[in-house]
Amino acid sequence: MSAELSPIEKAKFAAARRAVDFIEDGMRVGLGTGSTAAWMVRCLGERIRREGITVVGVPTSTRTADLARSLDIPLITLEEAKFLDLTIDGADEFDADLNLIKGGGGALLQEKIVATASNRMVVITDAAKEVSHLGTFPLPVEVIPFGWQSSRNQIEELLGGMDVLGRQTTLRMQDDVAYRTDEGNFIVDCHLNKIGDARALAIALNQIAGVVENGLFIDICDTVVIGDVNGKIEIRDGNDGRVTREQLDFSGDTAVFTPLG
Ligand code: 5RP
Repeated sequence: MSAELSPIEKAKFAAARRAVDFIEDGMRVGLGTGSTAAWMVRCLGERIRREGITVVGVPTSTRTADLARSLDIPLITLEEAKFLDLTIDGADEFDADLNLIKGGGGALLQEKIVATASNRMVVITDAAKEVSHLGTFPLPVEVIPFGWQSSRNQIEELLGGMDVLGRQTTLRMQDDVAYRTDEGNFIVDCHLNKIGDARALAIALNQIAGVVENGLFIDICDTVVIGDVNGKIEIRDGNDGRVTREQLDFSGDTAVFTPLG
């Protein structure tokens, strides 16, 4: 394993490296977005190269699609795939019930569509993202640009009546202009600090005109794979409550760290 990787990147790599073992020959796999998911895509590319397994991927962003193509991972659209066997993705927060906040990387809409079209969603993460209550990480809400201020006002009004600790919202920016998702939408980040009833909030947000989707993933994730800097892995299964602990052997993984051509 590369000595230059930071501890957090090593933990992300460990989780990603273990999670690709869930991928079986012939599977249709949703490919998540973000730095942890990027390790997973690289590890999958390596498995395809080494083992010759036949896998098709459905990417959740143009970034992931570009990375997967550069690794010669065959891609299809969700329309072509119709359903997926498995999606592997990162998260910004997860709680004891494996509910998540996602969308820090701005891809929550495609990520939720792809995850909910999958038989199983596996989240790859480091331990620092576990929380007792969701909400420390700002909750992303994707809104269409038309009348976005009105949608934002309604989000703030809604938050006034919800069980949350903070109610401030900000329009996500990039290089001094509003950040645009792959669909050309804006993201309103909600600084809630603590969400009392994430399920109720997820439902209510999506009733607001102009809101396309929110970053709360409730009852979507089946399994969380938690990696640590030394290759220790904890796998939590949300369906049967089982917790498995393993030690990864990284020797032989050096090809994953080769710079992409
Ligand atoms: C992108 C996401 C990411 O999965 C999430 O932000 C975690 O990213 P990272 O793995 O870089 O910490 O939801 O929309």
